[in-house]
Amino acid sequence: MKKWTTAAIRAAKGNVKLACVTAYDYTFARLADAAGVPLVLVGDSMGMTMLGRRDTLRVTMDNILAATGAVSRGAQNACVVADMPFGSTQCGDDAAVANAVKCLQAGADAVKLEGGVRAAGLIRRLVSCGIPVFAHVGMTPQSVNEYGGFKMQGKTRAAAQEVLEDAKAVSAAGAFAVTLECIPDELAAEITAAVPCPTVGIGAGPVCDGQFLVMHDLLGLNTGHVPSFARKFADLGQAAIDGFAAYAAAVMDGSFPPPRPARTQERT
Ligand code: KIV
Repeated sequence: MKKWTTAAIRAAKGNVKLACVTAYDYTFARLADAAGVPLVLVGDSMGMTMLGRRDTLRVTMDNILAATGAVSRGAQNACVVADMPFGSTQCGDDAAVANAVKCLQAGADAVKLEGGVRAAGLIRRLVSCGIPVFAHVGMTPQSVNEYGGFKMQGKTRAAAQEVLEDAKAVSAAGAFAVTLECIPDELAAEITAAVPCPTVGIGAGPVCDGQFLVMHDLLGLNTGHVPSFARKFADLGQAAIDGFAAYAAAVMDGSFPPPRPARTQERT
């Protein structure tokens, strides 16, 4: 299998539909990579999936860097993208570039950051420094307090026009791909036709160049709210409960561990 570079992701538009997932550790990154997934995002959704928080706002650079190191060791062929957490880009462009450099030094191939027109200047600067950027427009979860909840964006004609302008701005600034999160299907289709880079939708309908799903939603590991657009492709959550329960029962009834022959008890 060949390595998915950011250039290969960009060139996939119109050729291959991109199935993108999140992963936050070595083990699941290795499994996603073995399945041939082209792009693994170390998402700030880890705030919810891994840290049990209500939103993404308290995820830190240290959280992302530790996970990026682990994911990049697990994913040999997938393009590894590190999400820039809340606070890491709002602190001025110099500090944002320094934070993005840390992501690449931790093992990422690219960074992802939220924002449209207002992020375009930073995206241009990062790209000029050799740091590939995956943009993210539409419903951007780090703006949850601005929205008053995780709400679909771009529903009125004026709001749709703003999201379209956002997507065009980040694409013109040099983003190699753009996430479209929670926007109407027709708007996602319009953006997909309007920008030269691939659009990767999450809750944005089928007419995108690729799709994102959070790993916990698609593998059935999510114990909290599962978005209506997500689909469970496996039930690892139930398999894990069954495995833990079988282990606990075997310990309690004394069937695990079994007695060993004396010879196997020698330490070498
Ligand atoms: O953090 C994340 O998981 C994301 C994807 C859902 C696009 O930003």
